[in-house]
Amino acid sequence: LASIEFDVGAIPEGQSVTITWRGLPVFVRHRTGAEIEEAKAVPLSELKDPETDEARTKEGHEEWLIMIANCTHLGCIPVGESGDFDGWFCPCHGSHYDSAGRIRRGPAPKNLVVPPYEFVSDTLVQIG
Ligand code: FES
Repeated sequence: LASIEFDVGAIPEGQSVTITWRGLPVFVRHRTGAEIEEAKAVPLSELKDPETDEARTKEGHEEWLIMIANCTHLGCIPVGESGDFDGWFCPCHGSHYDSAGRIRRGPAPKNLVVPPYEFVSDTLVQIG
């Protein structure tokens, strides 16, 4: 199927799940307020692949971060709640992603990819 629906309602704040969409692993993270504030406070000039936090989330649903889980370097799966920027760390070659999934250090060239998605209700997300 091209698109899937997923109910995020059972994911507690500060936790993530990994689901599958089109054969790809996708992180769904329920961010904490501190993680959101930290992501919003980063100047774009510090980013290798400059994107605002707002561009990577949906208005009114900023606590949800939904991203394809493959490192943009060579495709490994980064480890969550890890790395130097309170996000993800890819152990394959040492890429650090922040709490918005943006690349901050290491060889990965791009931010973790946000797939097309929409909230169809408060907790139901359609991906794809
Ligand atoms: Fe992630 Fe190389 S695949 S750093």
